[in-house]
Amino acid sequence: MIEIDKEKCTSCGKCAEVCPSGIIESERVNGKRRVYVAHPDWCNLCGHCMAVCAPRAITHELLSYDDFEELGDLDVSPDSMKRLLLARRSVRRYKPEPVPDDAVAELIEVATHAGTGGNNQSVGFMVIRDAALIQRLEDAVLDVLWNTGVKFMGNNVVMSALRLVAGSGASEGMARYYTMFKTMRESGHLQGSMFRNAPALVVAYDKKSNRMAALDCAIAMRNVEVMAMTMGLGTCWSGFLVGADKMRPKRINGVLGLAGDERIHGALMLGYPKYTYNVKLPRKARKVTLL
Ligand SMILES: Cc1cc2nc3c(=O)[nH]c(=O)nc-3n(C[C@H](O)[C@H](O)[C@H](O)COP(=O)(O)O)c2cc1C
Repeated sequence: MIEIDKEKCTSCGKCAEVCPSGIIESERVNGKRRVYVAHPDWCNLCGHCMAVCAPRAITHELLSYDDFEELGDLDVSPDSMKRLLLARRSVRRYKPEPVPDDAVAELIEVATHAGTGGNNQSVGFMVIRDAALIQRLEDAVLDVLWNTGVKFMGNNVVMSALRLVAGSGASEGMARYYTMFKTMRESGHLQGSMFRNAPALVVAYDKKSNRMAALDCAIAMRNVEVMAMTMGLGTCWSGFLVGADKMRPKRINGVLGLAGDERIHGALMLGYPKYTYNVKLPRKARKVTLL
C-alpha cells in the first residue's frame, strides 16, 4: 500500500515521526539510518507521511501527490482569529436572498476537512435550499418535539418522575420548554420558530455505528460556522432538529431521505444576516482548572 522510493528518500525519518500509527519505522544499519514501511495495513490515509516528505519519496496506493495542494503561508493573525471567534453570534433573522452554489461548495469543502476520529471521514452533509422541504422538515420537527416529548411536560406525575431521574435542573428546563411551546402553539407563533425562515439548512449525519459521530459532525459544523462568517454569511445551530431526530429518527430521516441507521448530529441554519453586531458579549464565569 505504501512504498518509499529509495532513490529519492534522504532517510530523514520525518515520515516515521509524524505517522500516527507507527506504520513507518527507522533503524540504524552500519551507522546509516534506514526508513521502511513496517505495518502498511494500519494506515488510516491521513497523508502526513507524504506531506512532510520534501523529496516526495512516498507513494501510496490510495493517495496521490497530484491531489495535494500547497496552501502557502497562513496569514491569519491570532488577533483577527480571536476577534472572529468572539464576534460569532447565532443569527436568527435572515435576508431572503439565497445562498449561492459557490458559497455552499466552499463550506462543504471546509466541513470535509475537519478532523474525524480514526480519520473515518464518514460524516455526510446535506444542504437544503428547497423552501418547501425546509417547511416539511420544520413541521415534522415541531410535531415530534410536541407529541413525543414536550406535551407530557405539562403533566405533574411526569414532571415529578423527571425530577427524580434527571434532577431539578433538567426538569426546570423541560418545564420552561413546555410553557414556551404551549404559549407559542396557542398564539400561532410556532411557525418559523425552528429554522427562523433561513434560506438554507446544513445537516451533518453519520451511521449509528460510528461512535465518534456526534463529535465528528459537530467539529465539521464548527468549520462551517466560522468559514461562513468570513463570507458574510450567518448561522445558527438547530439543536431542535438534532433532538427530534434522536426522538423519532424514522420520521425525521424519512423527510430527508436518510437511511434508518443514520443519525443527525449537527444542523445549522444558514443565510445572509439581516442584522450584524460585532460585539463581545459577557459570558458566565466558568470552572477552569490549570494544572
Ligand atoms: C448545540 C446547540 C444547539 C442549539 N440549538 C438552537 C436551536 O435549536 N434554536 C436556536 O434558535 N438556537 C440554538 N442554539 C443557539 C444558542 O441558543 C446560542 O448559541 C446561545 O444562546 C448563545 O448565543 P450566541 O450563539 O449568539 O453566542 C444552539 C446552540 C448550540 C451550541
